[in-house]
Amino acid sequence: MKEFRNKTDLISYINNLKQNGQSVGFVPTMGALHQGHLALVKESLKNNDQTVVSIFVNPTQFDNPEDLKKYPRTYQADKSILKTLDNNIIIYHPDANNFYDGNIKSDHFNFDGLELEMEGKHRPGHFDGVATVVKKLFETVRPDRAYFGEKDFQQLLIIKKLVKKENLPIEIVAVPIQRESDGLAMSSRNKRLNPLQRLSASYIYHILTQVRYLFEYYDIVSIKKFVYEAMAAHPELKIEYFEIADEKNLKPVTRKKSGNKYRAFIVVYAGDIRLIDNVAL
Ligand code: PAJ
Repeated sequence: MKEFRNKTDLISYINNLKQNGQSVGFVPTMGALHQGHLALVKESLKNNDQTVVSIFVNPTQFDNPEDLKKYPRTYQADKSILKTLDNNIIIYHPDANNFYDGNIKSDHFNFDGLELEMEGKHRPGHFDGVATVVKKLFETVRPDRAYFGEKDFQQLLIIKKLVKKENLPIEIVAVPIQRESDGLAMSSRNKRLNPLQRLSASYIYHILTQVRYLFEYYDIVSIKKFVYEAMAAHPELKIEYFEIADEKNLKPVTRKKSGNKYRAFIVVYAGDIRLIDNVAL
């Protein structure tokens, strides 16, 4: 197990690997690792000589300072999970000052409108923060392949766009959403749910499953009404948004066109804990 905190040390280590013809897979995370993250790591281990996992709670992508403060940090546990999975994993765990060279702020990006929908609307500056950190991570790690979860579907499309726009020689690999046995999408934030909230949170996937069925027979306006009413009736959950959007450009739609692919996207609060999920329709 190799562990790096310093950017320049990691850069020279990777240079060495590359000179020896080794392929590098990369899994960026904010830690508090769960089986969702590990699905990405396992994919990388399968298809690359070396796998780098970054663990960095990136301050520039949090639009809410309380969320940043309360974000679970479990570095020692994360390290032992990765070690059990494969003792050759390379961990990059920078501190914010070293990572940002003392200037902790985001650059501004244009992703042809992808950044303006859904999460972009509700979390101002979030995708600038994500793109800033991922671009810097890519520059340091220079992976052949990088792994992202469909759980953050909009993030995944934005990273694909980033790679295209910046002409980076990196293959972005999408990994399906990993769920708990009751359907709740695995998330680091789930660790903060109290028992009642945890039980209630499975209702999100329950509703999305119904949406998948309703989508065959009903119009989108009626489906949205159904979701908002169902969520309003739940005493533990508060909906932030629900959209059905085109899978390619993430533009919300009100009418389906044959030949296009759609996804349903939802964000729900349980207390102050923000839960995000989506399903293909
Ligand atoms: P984080 O929320 O830690 O997630 C790291 C990666 O794991 C992301 O690609 C995310 O989509 C994926 N992931 C999380 N839960 C998953 C699940 N249940 N099933 C499948 N994949 C899942 O996303 C971030 O961190 C950050 O924005 C980051 C990209 C690291 C930039 O800071």
